[in-house]
Parts: sequence; C-alpha cells; structure tokens
Amino acid sequence: MSNTTNQSWGGRFSEPTDAFVARFTASVDFDRRLYHHDIRGSIAHATMLERVGVLTCDEREAIVQGLGEVEREIDAEQFPWSVELEDVHMNIEARLTEKIGITGKKLHTGRSRNDQIATDIRLYLRDEIDIVAAEIARLREGLIELATREADTVMPGFTHLQTAQPVTFGHHLLAWQEMLTRDHERLLDCRKRVNVMPLGAAALAGTTYPIDRHVTADLLGFERPAENSLDAVSDRDFAIEFGAFASTLLMHLSRMSEELVLWTSAQFDFIDLPDRFCTGSSIMPQKKNPDVPELVRGKTGRVYGHLMGLLTLMKSQPLAYNKDNQEDKEPLFDTVDTVQGCLKAFADMVPAIEAKAGNMFEAARKGFSTATDLADYLVRAGVAFRDAHEIVGQAVALGLREQKDLSEMSLDELRQFSDAIQADVFEVLTLEGSVAARNHIGGTAPDQVRAAAQRARDALATLQQEA
Ligand code: ARG
Repeated sequence: MSNTTNQSWGGRFSEPTDAFVARFTASVDFDRRLYHHDIRGSIAHATMLERVGVLTCDEREAIVQGLGEVEREIDAEQFPWSVELEDVHMNIEARLTEKIGITGKKLHTGRSRNDQIATDIRLYLRDEIDIVAAEIARLREGLIELATREADTVMPGFTHLQTAQPVTFGHHLLAWQEMLTRDHERLLDCRKRVNVMPLGAAALAGTTYPIDRHVTADLLGFERPAENSLDAVSDRDFAIEFGAFASTLLMHLSRMSEELVLWTSAQFDFIDLPDRFCTGSSIMPQKKNPDVPELVRGKTGRVYGHLMGLLTLMKSQPLAYNKDNQEDKEPLFDTVDTVQGCLKAFADMVPAIEAKAGNMFEAARKGFSTATDLADYLVRAGVAFRDAHEIVGQAVALGLREQKDLSEMSLDELRQFSDAIQADVFEVLTLEGSVAARNHIGGTAPDQVRAAAQRARDALATLQQEA
C-alpha cells in the first residue's frame, strides 16, 4: 500500500491520501503562478549548495540545466501539472527528477517547502511591486501634465458637495497627485520589508548543512537573510502590508472615480471622457456610461476584503509555519491583479480627460463662491470678521431673492450692507481675482499650481532615482 502514498513525503504513511483531501489541500491550481520565482530560488539554492561543498559542480549543472528545461515546458504550456503532487514546488521537483534522475532529489537538501514558499512569494511580490510602482509613476506624470494644462481653469471647489470657493482645476488634480505620492512612498517602504530572504530557515529551525545564506541572498537580489528562522517561515505581514497599501490606493482611486462619475453627468458636465473609456446602454440609446471609473470604485471592495482576509488568516497562528498560510496566495494575487488593472486604466485615461472650462466657470459663478472673498475684503477695510460674515450673508440673501451673483450687483446695491465697500470690491468678486489671491504655497492660484506641478515633477524624479 505504501507505494501509492505521496512520493515526496509518503514514507511514514500506511494508506494513500483520501482523494478529496488531496484536492482540498492542494495548492497547485493557484500557486503554479509562482513557477518562475520557484525555479529562480531553486537555482540560487543549488548554486549556494555547490559553493559550500554540499553539491558537486556536475550536480549543480544538471539541476540548473534541468530546471531550465522545466521552465521552458511550463512557458510553452506543455507541463504535466498534477494535483497529486500538491503544489508548484513538488510538481517542479518531480519533473526535474524525471529528467535528470537521482540528482534532482538532492535539490531539496537543506531547505523545506516552508522557507521555499515564503521566498517564492517575496520574489514574486517584489517583481509585482516594481510594476505597480511604475504604473503609479505613470499616473502621477499624467496628473501633473494635465494640472499644468489646466492651471488657469476655474471650477467650483466644494465642501459638503456644496459650492464653497472657486479653485483651479489644476489645483484639484494636484490634490489627487498628492494622495498618490503618499501611496507611492508607502509602496516603496513596503518593498524594503518584502526584500528580506527566508531561505535557509528550512522547516522552522534552520538546517544542519553548512549553508551560506548571504550567497543565496546576493544571488536573488535580497537585501539580507531574515534574522530568525521561526519568523521567516511563518509571518506574512509583508503581504498584509501590501494589502494595506493597496486598500489605501484603491480608496484614493475610488474617490477620484466618484468625482469623474459626477463630472461626466449632465448635471455637472465638467469633463468629457473619450468614448474608448465608456460604454453604452442596450436599451437607452443616448447613454454614455463612465464604466471605467465606476468599475475602479467597485473593485475597491474586493481589495479591502482581501486585506481583512489576510489579517484574519494571520491572527492567532502559533509559531511557526501552519497550513493556514497557504491561503495567503489567492487574496494576494487578486490584490496585485486588481491594483495593476485599476492603475493601468487610470494612467491611460487621465491624459485623455477633456475639461469643459466654460461649464466649470459658469458653475463656479453660481452658488456665491466668492462670498468669503467679500468677507475678507471687509476685514481688510477694518470690519471685524464676525460682522463681515453677517454683512455678506445679507448680500447673499439678496442675491438668492433676485437670482444674481455678488459680482453682478451694483456698487450701490452692495453698499446698502456696508459703506466699507468701495469700487475696488469687484476685483475680489471675480472668479479669476478670487483664485489669484490665494497665492501662497498650497494655495489655488494658477502661478502656485504651476510651481507645485514643477515641484511634484522633481519629487517624482527623485523618488524614482532612489528606488
Ligand atoms: N503549499 C504550501 C503553502 O502554500 C507550501 C508549503 C507547504 N509546507 C508544508 N509543510 N505543507 O504554504
């Protein structure tokens, strides 16, 4: 009977695994995605084993050669994946042994699947992080360029989604850019903790072979070997950290999405999204729906869900490795795919946003968006702020009754509320005057937007150089 037990660990078993249990515990259907990284890790491990004298030169060469063949088979989708072999590691090792014979069985000397998988996911995530970082950079660049183009475009700024004060569209876009800058920094910070090598921890306690973990770490481009073998095989906090980064990023993208959806509506009509980012309705011929931002907004939910899943997966696990950790892969993979998809959609779409400057301007003229400017004007003329607030409130009440903006009232009409008001008041009541007056770092004045865009360009270049 024992000759039908699992070929990798069946020695102590007296009956084969139940067919359902074999399927239930197998991970090969999803962890096969790690094959490049698994093979890369194995080649580095074999190379290190040769350097310390555990493998001969010929053995290492046979292993490296065989793994190369296996990799090409998988690339060509000609690899005989087997659920009986449980996971990506044992599938590859079994195929290697079929190809090169007994030497293939020596590859696993001084390691365990526990440090192997922990290494594979880190190698995988490091590569994906670099792709994500490049996409964030592309999106940031797009926003900075659009903001520069729209530095003078006036739109209403909102609080409580009620017209508050005029701002420039460029300023609004640079607010998004700031959110993404922090996400970018969080991602690169997370990468530092991903880039630590578990290999050598073996099952949990290290190994009796004279391994040199610095050699393996150098070969794989890791910053250093992990300090503690128990921690190295068991913790997945780096995946949780990536999930937290991804959740914050998607939260930001969903806020941007929400504004894009609002702005493309007939009620706002602030922007146009090119047809290639939209779809129609099968029943209402007039519809052009902003599907891309809507879908990004919707995908936020699954990324938050994966973060919760990973946190709960780790919670209460005793040291060291537990099979629970096999459940880290699907949420992590889906988080990576979702983040990359959403970023690509946004980075492609943002440069194509067409601002409808006339509509934005008209919207800003409604809703008394320069009321604060009038109050500030009165304060400069010696009126206490609370009194100025009250005076302007009365002027707004008149405007509401007569349906006109403050800038459309005559000097006499305005002076009935305060004789501190002079002819020069109209300089602050125009939208252009209002935005231009907020002329300090972080303010909405067009000159400030251009300067902020330049600083953002420089900061992005610096961050990319350091990475
Ligand atoms: N498939 C496993 C995982 O994803 C690999 C490590 C299995 N180790 C073990 N002792 N069963 O975590």
